[in-house]
Amino acid sequence: MNLIQYAVSVTMISVIWVQMPSGADSESPVPLVVYQWNLLEFEWPNDTVKQANKASGEYIPNNSAINGIKLYKDKVFVTVPRLFPGVPSTLNVLVNVISPDMTSYNVASSNMPSLNVTLLRPYPNWEMQTLWNCDALQRVQSMEVDPHAGLMWIVDTGYRENMGNPAPGYRDVTTVPKDACPPKIIIFDINKHSIVHKYTFPSSVTGVGRFYLNDIVLGFENGAARYAYISDTLAFKIVVYDYKTDSSWAYSHPNMAADPVYMKLTIGNDTTTLVTGINGIALSPDYQYLYYSSVAGVGLHQIKTSVLISARGDNVKFAAAVRTIGSKVSPGDGMAYGSAHNLYYSALGKNGIYKWDVRKDLGSTGSFDSVEMKTQAKFVSDARMEWVDTLVIDGAGFLWFSTSRLNKLFSEGGVQRYEPNFYIWKVYVGDTNYMTAANPTLGAGSTPASILIISLSALFAAYLV
Ligand SMILES: *[C@@H]1O[C@H](CO)[C@@H](O)[C@H](O)[C@H]1NC(C)=O
Ligand SMILES: *[C@@H]1O[C@H](CO)[C@@H](O)[C@H](O)[C@H]1NC(C)=O
Ligand SMILES: *[C@@H]1O[C@H](CO)[C@@H](O)[C@H](O)[C@H]1NC(C)=O
Ligand SMILES: *[C@@H]1O[C@H](CO)[C@@H](O)[C@H](O)[C@H]1NC(C)=O
Repeated sequence: MNLIQYAVSVTMISVIWVQMPSGADSESPVPLVVYQWNLLEFEWPNDTVKQANKASGEYIPNNSAINGIKLYKDKVFVTVPRLFPGVPSTLNVLVNVISPDMTSYNVASSNMPSLNVTLLRPYPNWEMQTLWNCDALQRVQSMEVDPHAGLMWIVDTGYRENMGNPAPGYRDVTTVPKDACPPKIIIFDINKHSIVHKYTFPSSVTGVGRFYLNDIVLGFENGAARYAYISDTLAFKIVVYDYKTDSSWAYSHPNMAADPVYMKLTIGNDTTTLVTGINGIALSPDYQYLYYSSVAGVGLHQIKTSVLISARGDNVKFAAAVRTIGSKVSPGDGMAYGSAHNLYYSALGKNGIYKWDVRKDLGSTGSFDSVEMKTQAKFVSDARMEWVDTLVIDGAGFLWFSTSRLNKLFSEGGVQRYEPNFYIWKVYVGDTNYMTAANPTLGAGSTPASILIISLSALFAAYLV
C-alpha cells in the first residue's frame, strides 16, 4: 500500500472493533477501539466552505485533537479545545456518514471507494462555534451530561492565552489572542435542542488573564443537579457554581498547583513540560466527596462537598478540611468515579488507566472520611494509549475514554496525518456512572458521620443566610 492508501485504511473506516490479544490472565479487561482518526474530520456545510476556511487559516487540520468525551443515550459528544489556531468547532457530536466522494477529506485519494466515515458534527450547530462572539462557544474543554434531565453543562473558558509553554522545541502558542470572551457555563437541553441557562463567571471568581476552566462534575440535591465543581488548571483553583442561586465562588490551595518535581513527562519519544495544575476531578455517587489531582503531580486529594458548598470560597476552611489520601503511580489527566466506588484515573507515564477500589481501603473505621489509597492496580494499558485524557462511565457497565496524544500535539513536529493519533475506547467495568442515582439512598457511605456533615452544612448555610 502506498502512504495515502495506508492512511485511509487506518483512519477513515469509522467504527473499528479491535479485539486486543487477550493476555495470560483471562480476567484482564479487554479495551476496544470504538473510533480512531489520523486527523479529525468535521462535517462542513459543503466543500466550498471547507476549502475557504482552509485557505483563510481558520481551519488547520493538524491542530485539532479530541479531548473531552461525554455520552447521552446513543450519542457521543466530544470536545476539541482551541489549543492552537485553526480549530473550526470546539464542541461536537459524532456522526457516521457514507461518503461517496473522499476527495475533500484530509487523507483522501480520489479513486477510493465510498467509506463509512466518522465526522465531528458541530454541536449544537456551526453558529455556536463562532469565534469572537461571546454568546457562542469559544474554547470548550469539558462538559457534563445530567443523564436524568438530559441537560448538558458546557464549560467555556473563553478563547484566551494558551498554556504558553516557553520550553525550546515547543510549538509557539503565544500568538493565541487573550481574553476575547469571559468564561461561562451554558446549560443545554439535548432533547429540546435549546439553551436553558447561561451564566458568566465574574472576574472576582475566575480572575483575569491566565486561567483555564477544565473539568466538571455535577453535585445533585433532592434529585436535581445543583452544583458544578470545576477545576481550573492554570489558576490552580476549584470553582463552584450553584445553579439554584446562580452564583459562584472558588478555592485555591497549594496542592492544586503544578508540582515542579513532575513537570517533565516522557511519553514515547516526546518529553513534555507540564505547567498544568489541578485537572481531573471526580465525585462520589453520594455527591459527598470530591477527588482531584494536578497534571504535574501524583497526589490524590479529597475534599467534602459540604465544605465546598458552605465555606463559599474561604481558603482557610478549605485547607482545614482537604486531605491528601495517596499517591498515584504517575501524573494523570482525567478521572472517573463509579457508583460501586471504583476510581479510574489516567496514568500518563504508563500509557493507560489505573483503578482504585475505594471500599477496599476504608479500613477499620469504614468511613470515607479517613479512607487512604493504599491499593491501586493497573487496569488497562496499551502503547496506543498516549495521553489518556477524559474518562466517562456509561449506564451499561462500560468505561469510555479518549486518548488525545497531547504529547504529540504540543511537540515540535505536531501530529502527523499518516499515523493514527486520536482514539476513543471502551472497556467493560461492570460499574455505572456516579450520577446513576440522582437521589442516592443513604447507604454504606452515609454513616452517622456523614449525616452529621449534612446537618452541619445545613447549619453553616443557615448561619450564612
Ligand atoms: C456506519 O458505521 C456505523 C457504526 O458502526 C453503523 O452504525 C452504521 O450502520 C454504518 N452505516 C452504514 C450505512 O453501513
Ligand atoms: C455552501 O454552504 C454555504 C453555507 O451554508 C452556502 O452559503 C453556499 O451557498 C453553499 N455552496 C454551495 C456550492 O452549495
Ligand atoms: C521513536 O522514534 C523512533 C525513531 O524515529 C521510532 O522508530 C519509534 O517508533 C518512535 N517511538 C514512538 C513510541 O513513537
Ligand atoms: C500543520 O499543517 C500545515 C499545513 O499543512 C503545515 O504547514 C504545518 O507545518 C503543520 N504543522 C505541524 C506542527 O505539523
